[in-house]
Amino acid sequence: MSALTVAAPAKLNLYLHVTGRRPDGYHTLDSLVAFAGIQDMIRVEESRGLTLDIEGPFKDDVPHGEENIVLQAALALREKLEAPMGAKITLVKRLPVASGLGGGSADAAATLSALMQLWKDAPADDELMALALKLGADVPVCLAGQACFVGGIGEELTPAPKLPESWVVLVNPGVPLSTPTVFAAREGDFSRPNRFDYAPADGAELAAILAERTNDLHVSALTMAPVIGDVLKALKDRPGCRLARMSGSGATCFALFDTADAAIQTTMALDKDHPGWWVKTGSLICDTGTLSRPAP
Ligand code: C5P
Repeated sequence: MSALTVAAPAKLNLYLHVTGRRPDGYHTLDSLVAFAGIQDMIRVEESRGLTLDIEGPFKDDVPHGEENIVLQAALALREKLEAPMGAKITLVKRLPVASGLGGGSADAAATLSALMQLWKDAPADDELMALALKLGADVPVCLAGQACFVGGIGEELTPAPKLPESWVVLVNPGVPLSTPTVFAAREGDFSRPNRFDYAPADGAELAAILAERTNDLHVSALTMAPVIGDVLKALKDRPGCRLARMSGSGATCFALFDTADAAIQTTMALDKDHPGWWVKTGSLICDTGTLSRPAP
């Protein structure tokens, strides 16, 4: 294979409980993570050197040099594989940056997957996951690409029960939020883990389960970006909205709908009423197919 493309879908924290704080400052979580069919793209081609080109609407919001997580992922993988392999990598940056959608983590995961296929080589599973976690706390779940309960700081992955078919509207009001700052500003007691072990029958049941849980970063993010309150209100007011919640450390919020039509109507209405907001529709994805092994 001389070139291939791997999607890097947005990550959604359907709920996010902060369960503790480690001595190194990282927080332990209990979160249900799934994905939305709205994505960056990673394309890799055979090449002698290792280079990165960036395209797409948010290309100016990410570093273009070695600080870019895509090149960090490529360099870390190449070092682990101990071979001087190259690639011409292109990132199509369609997801807003610093937005709670794990875009950088998704890009890193898609890069690892694409390069393992291009280079026809891969580290052992545990080494790959350790490398992923070093790149960022959300990279392991993005690499696994499965709807999962996430524990630890992001490294403990437990496959979630089957989730009902749903449609997602994502809204980002254009205010970047720093993940460490939002975590650091969180106040109050830690939450308990609150997993469930059965498949919700439909969107109403999934929404009822999620409504009993929270995003524990909501309050601190809202303090820094009060517009999050306006986004959630605009989503909750829409016909057919089962649940509206902030993802990750914000400021992107998502809403769940049973039908594509209700989601698309919402997207069109919010686009019209709030031209400055980034509003997108996609399906809820429980298996992204990101973790492809090199062909034997
Ligand atoms: O690992 P990542 O680069 O995504 O995390 C960015 C920052 O977010 C960390 O340095 C930490 O301050 C905070 N964080 C945290 N607990 C997590 C994930 C991230 O405190 N589980």
